[in-house]
Amino acid sequence: MSKSLISIHDFSKEEILHILSVAREMEADKSQKLLDGKVVACLFFEPSTRTRLSFETAANRLGARVIGFSDVANTSISKGETLKDTIKMVSNYVDIIVMRHPLEGAARYASEVCDIPVVNAGDGANQHPSQTLLDLYTILETQGRLDNVSVNMVGDLKYGRTVHSLLQAMSHFSPRFCFTSPDELRMPVEYKEFLDMRGIPYTETASLQEHLCDCDILYMTRVQQERFSDPMEYEKVKDVYRLERAMLEGVRPNMKILHPLPRVGEIADDVDDTPYAYYYKQAENGMYVRMAIIACLLGYK
Ligand code: CP
Repeated sequence: MSKSLISIHDFSKEEILHILSVAREMEADKSQKLLDGKVVACLFFEPSTRTRLSFETAANRLGARVIGFSDVANTSISKGETLKDTIKMVSNYVDIIVMRHPLEGAARYASEVCDIPVVNAGDGANQHPSQTLLDLYTILETQGRLDNVSVNMVGDLKYGRTVHSLLQAMSHFSPRFCFTSPDELRMPVEYKEFLDMRGIPYTETASLQEHLCDCDILYMTRVQQERFSDPMEYEKVKDVYRLERAMLEGVRPNMKILHPLPRVGEIADDVDDTPYAYYYKQAENGMYVRMAIIACLLGYK
């Protein structure tokens, strides 16, 4: 069985730091043809802009070729083919599979039915480990360290796979957390127990303003309409937070605003040209980190 990246728990602290250091090399030299002759499959069963295009660009920059789909309607899955058969077929054509799927556990299952590396590009509300690695890369880039960083996570903390993965990865680095969310979207109890067991401190609030001035990273997230089974529940919370430029008075000078994107109103446009906005560079960093992930999983770094 090849090494896959399904959950951030699949990588030790040392492996995480290695990926970040390879990503730094990739940023310094953006076209290293390490993967000439290799083929990467990008199988997206759920919509994506950044993750799919940055993985595809990463593969191209490394000299690999890319196949895949971003619309399941054009595949034989629409005729009833199973996920197992789809993955087994594709794994005979390519060297590594990058896969996004709405069902939690789908990427793990895919890695168990084939013999090539699988990268989880997001499975339901569960994990998004390549996003986590690029978030860590960006935190390191902006703060000069990963240790003892204060992170304020804002928005949909219940269904947000990016915050779940990031919380677990940061646990290696003695963080402090604030969880800012409406009651309906609070951080699930299993993640708070995870922190309790490791002695990692956190506070919870429903007020966006309350902890804006005492964090190093303000990690904004979108309230994800697609995760709600009841549209009325979504309507109640969809516009709960909106970060505006005027609210940033008094924040720490080193504070950076991250967001996995897309945003749908939770960060006003007038924040974009403040020195605190870092989400566009964060998304760019995704390409370097995904170059590193593919190269490392294929044994080239
Ligand atoms: N951050 C992220 O996963 O963006 P996409 O949904 O556009 O891939």
